[in-house]
Amino acid sequence: MRFATRAIHKGSEVDSTGSVVSPIYAVSTFKQPGIGSDQRFKYSRASNPTRSSFEECLASLEGAKYGLAFASGVAAEMAALSLLKTGDEVVTTAHMYGGTYKILRKIMVNYNISTKYVYSTDADDFERAITKKTKLIWLETPTNPILKILDIRAISDIAKKRKIQVVVDNTFASPYFQQPLSLGADIVVHSTTKYIGGHSDIIGGAVVTNNNNLYKKIKFYQSAAGAIASPFDSFLALRGLKTLEVRMKKHEENAFEVAKFLQNNKNVNETLYPGLTSHTGHEIAKKQMSGFGGMVSFRMKGNESKVKKFISSLKLFAFAESLGGIESLASTPYYMITHASLSEQERAKIGITRDLIRLSIGIEDSRDILEDLEQALG
Ligand SMILES: Cc1ncc(COP(=O)(O)O)c(C=O)c1O
Repeated sequence: MRFATRAIHKGSEVDSTGSVVSPIYAVSTFKQPGIGSDQRFKYSRASNPTRSSFEECLASLEGAKYGLAFASGVAAEMAALSLLKTGDEVVTTAHMYGGTYKILRKIMVNYNISTKYVYSTDADDFERAITKKTKLIWLETPTNPILKILDIRAISDIAKKRKIQVVVDNTFASPYFQQPLSLGADIVVHSTTKYIGGHSDIIGGAVVTNNNNLYKKIKFYQSAAGAIASPFDSFLALRGLKTLEVRMKKHEENAFEVAKFLQNNKNVNETLYPGLTSHTGHEIAKKQMSGFGGMVSFRMKGNESKVKKFISSLKLFAFAESLGGIESLASTPYYMITHASLSEQERAKIGITRDLIRLSIGIEDSRDILEDLEQALG
């Protein structure tokens, strides 16, 4: 079955009631036939039918055997990082979601798990950063918020030679545009809050893998630490998957129009969108993604007051954290919580400057999106 068909049918097989979608099993515990029963569902922290439906469908879309759903994207990240032990080291791209920085800097350090940051996108620089202590390489591509592109296959090849696991945060691309396991990654993490849920109405996360050993460890962590996706959130995330393909196509179509519009606007200094041939990661993106996604960032000309005026002039775009929903959102990463845990200097080093604006392009009529940007840019 093709992607769109799997998205609609996997995990939603018609049950004995004839229900054509997976119902919400708002259940904490399941009656067992007797001592020593091997029935699949016993207690919902360990396993719940609605969660399993979502996990199965997402795994299928990522080309994976196993999926695990969590209460948030960062809970899913913690689950992947739970594979590490005291003394281990993570090599990561410095260009990533600010919350991942927070976990590595404020939580993992307490367990004597250190991190090395790679500022460039060059696979050789990842290789140079590796030491004997390195057990995990953490990638995010396209990156939040400046949409850098990392070569998943090249970095995974380097990691494989040294038996280092590679995790890819695939939130920005979604499985519709990028399937990191097929490029050599070991684990994919998602904030399902974004494109997978797709409607800005849940907080959720997921881990997928093909590796049975890693799956067993993360599944154990999921049940033992307990940050599971609720039945209702799993239901909404599964419903989101059913329309992922049509939504992603429209997000991308609109994002392309916005990127081209911004590129030619006199008040814009730089447009960051991997679909543009001028983007430094365009060739790699073309190789490893089947589309370029719905996120567009840009740098405005002028001072801080211009940025403030732009944001306050927006009528259709909501000024808000988050991304990946059907509605268009604008954010200013320098000022917002996503990257607030980084110092001014650190933000400058990864290109998060005061003039940076990140747009999550929705699936509204693109004429309304462009008109709003045009009037706000002045
Ligand atoms: C790339 C990326 N990964 C992970 C997360 C964390 O997800 P959540 O907010 O669902 O915990 C985010 C949130 O913005 C994100 O943008």
